[in-house]
Amino acid sequence: FPPEKIRNISIIAHIDHGKSTLADRLLEMTGTITKGPGGNHQVLDKLNVERERGITVKAQTVSMLHTHKGEEYLINLIDTPGHVDFSYEVSRSLGACEGCLLLVDASHLSTTEGLQAQSLAVFRAASAQGLAIIPCLNKIDLPHASPEAISQQIEETLRIPPSQHLYISAKSGIGVDKVLGAVIENLPPPATTGAGWKDRVSRLSAGGALREGAVERWEKEEDDILRALIVDTYYDRFRGVVSLIRIFTGSIKKGDKITPMASGKRYEVLDVGVFHPEETPTDSLLAGQVGYVVCNMKNFEEANVGDTLTHATTTDIEPLPGFKPMQSMVFAGVFPLDAQDFQKLEEAIGRLTLNDRSVVYKDGTEEIISNPSLFPESHDKTMRIDHVEEPIGEEQVSTRCLACLLTLCPILPVHATIMVPQDFIGEMMELCNEHRGIELEYTFVEATDRAVLRYQLPLSEIATEFFSSLKSRSKGYASFDYEDAGYAASDLVKVHTQYLSQESSR
Ligand code: GTP
Repeated sequence: FPPEKIRNISIIAHIDHGKSTLADRLLEMTGTITKGPGGNHQVLDKLNVERERGITVKAQTVSMLHTHKGEEYLINLIDTPGHVDFSYEVSRSLGACEGCLLLVDASHLSTTEGLQAQSLAVFRAASAQGLAIIPCLNKIDLPHASPEAISQQIEETLRIPPSQHLYISAKSGIGVDKVLGAVIENLPPPATTGAGWKDRVSRLSAGGALREGAVERWEKEEDDILRALIVDTYYDRFRGVVSLIRIFTGSIKKGDKITPMASGKRYEVLDVGVFHPEETPTDSLLAGQVGYVVCNMKNFEEANVGDTLTHATTTDIEPLPGFKPMQSMVFAGVFPLDAQDFQKLEEAIGRLTLNDRSVVYKDGTEEIISNPSLFPESHDKTMRIDHVEEPIGEEQVSTRCLACLLTLCPILPVHATIMVPQDFIGEMMELCNEHRGIELEYTFVEATDRAVLRYQLPLSEIATEFFSSLKSRSKGYASFDYEDAGYAASDLVKVHTQYLSQESSR
């Protein structure tokens, strides 16, 4: 397929708004799967945990063939998790796309329907990457559906005119045929030459891992060099690490010698292919395509998500910018009850990390300091501190740990978005203030009764009962999403109280 016959898309949706159902319907319509007796296959939900809990956790992808106005197109659907805990996976999936379907439950404007904070957050991430977006208002088969009201909400909030909104029922199939046509006509094909691909990849790491002078260096390089982004990886017991890749330029085929630029190691490509819907080997993967590559990698350290794959003979090119590094959100020290089980524990954690890149484990090179007394002494010559980081925020004071009154505690601040009917604004502000929140922004969604509050809150505050209080105080109407505000390098030293008293007596 030449690039102009390819579309790479994601579906952005709040949990339960019908993403898996729509994906199944699109796969049926394109003949990628046949309609089963039970109807809904939830094909994209491959992992056991996903099937058991009915939620999408990891990004999955599937390639579909669709004939539009007599021409055949390849549509790659890169699934994204809708759950609030998986925003890192979402931003990676978006990196492989040029456009998105924004799926919104239009069954009626109440507790969990309509545009939700999570969808708004993913919409912002997609816009930052410059992706084109088609709103799809779902569940219009239900008698109480009010797609016009939701359409107005989307127009006012996201500034996408109603003429571009599709009214559908993923369950019954009403209007779904228009979705594929709109994907082909309204979403751009992948740009693989000239300024197009440089512009797309420059926006990959919204937040800025683009190296200074990267675009100028790309200008001097050939367009058809292999530049493939590793979007995700999973482990196969027999073949080792399988990498899900998006080829921005060049091509890759079986037998090629390739290298991930971060490690510089060389590998031979043993298999390439697409998901249709299972792994289907192909002769090659070309610029603009999404697929998998197997090349005898035994562990994940060899295939870093966000790294650039290129041919081993290619030297000294500017890598793709990749993704913002993932921030750890939950920290735990894990010990076996019986010290003899240590090796078993290590193996078990090793297996867990093989299929879940969001779990990171370390052997003591980086330490979270939860009490100032544990901060290393400056005269301790046995330890060399490379640098110290602390949680960043608009106003450090209010994110200080109440126990030790220092900002060293792992109380990572987050930026929260709360969308709520205006009647509940007071309640929501009170709730955020009780949880040491700092107001960042406060806007109204025109022509609706909704307001969007942005707050900075310590992560520790939202980790407990915050979400259930938010729901109960807003009678279920508030929706909530957050992203971490991150850590930044800081010039911190340990100060003893005896020095402080000497200073004050001077
Ligand atoms: P995650 O995978 O967790 O993100 O959820 P999801 O967004 O994929 O939702 P899913 O497709 O599982 O749909 C949630 C529920 O809504 C299921 O019970 C579906 O049958 C139902 N549903 C989806 N689309 C429609 C629709 O168009 N009409 C009606 N009536 N129900 C729908």
